[in-house]
Amino acid sequence: MMHDFSLTERFVVIYDLPVVRDLSVLAKSGPAKSIAARLTRFASQHAMPGPVAGAVMRGSSRPQPKFGWPYRWDPKHQARVGLMPRDGDASQIRWFEVQPCFVYHPLNAYDDANTVVLDVARLGSTYNDKGDPFTDTKSLDRWTIDLSDGTLREQRLDDRSQDFPRVDDRLVGKRHRFGYTVGFQPAADGFGTPDALVKHDLIADSSTTVSFGPYTEPGEFVFVPTTSDAPEDDGIVMGFVYDKSTDRSDLVMLDASSLERVATVHLPARVPHGFHGNWLPTAG
Ligand SMILES: [Fe+2]
Repeated sequence: MMHDFSLTERFVVIYDLPVVRDLSVLAKSGPAKSIAARLTRFASQHAMPGPVAGAVMRGSSRPQPKFGWPYRWDPKHQARVGLMPRDGDASQIRWFEVQPCFVYHPLNAYDDANTVVLDVARLGSTYNDKGDPFTDTKSLDRWTIDLSDGTLREQRLDDRSQDFPRVDDRLVGKRHRFGYTVGFQPAADGFGTPDALVKHDLIADSSTTVSFGPYTEPGEFVFVPTTSDAPEDDGIVMGFVYDKSTDRSDLVMLDASSLERVATVHLPARVPHGFHGNWLPTAG
């Protein structure tokens, strides 16, 4: 199963990690067979069912789906990263082995001469024996590939549980300095509850964390530059923050540099977690 991929200026980056599709899981899950049957059809067309993404971000107060998902962790499947030239084809993929893990969401990737850098939200495992996709904690890691000697070096950038990483979209595939992730409060049963926004400065090797008060859960935040040619970090980050005490969400905008709140749009309803979004400016 591949949930996402990365682009650099020269390569398509393929994450071939030890999760494989196993539709027999669904056949065994009696209580929700009709849902499972629909999911089977859905799963045959999509890398990861939307309800899974919803479940992970829904928060601790809402029940998680209990029927089997058509994927399983396969320790025999060698974890590896593939680099395919953007102007090439599958016959030209170079593979690089990594320790077993799973990546739903890369932060960004870029290449520079003989080096390819991949920053990823890494899970130690997923779809474990209990069939739960999200029982392992996540970290922010950097994988550096040396094209000349064929090695891949793994480096932990931040071992706090986090996911839903974003960069300035203008820098996708290019060298970035800043990144934004959603931090999770670890829980005994695994993944935990989203409770903070983390801004990473990958050059200064530092991070800043902002939370939004009790009973709140932030979703993925998106960077919007002040102008089309503004420097990286000159803009706002915006995202939905769910308040469990009111069952409503706010659209929250922060100064991307300081993480101070710039504006809040109070919405009359809850916006479900789990969806990625993009900012598209109007023409002109
Ligand atoms: Fe996703």
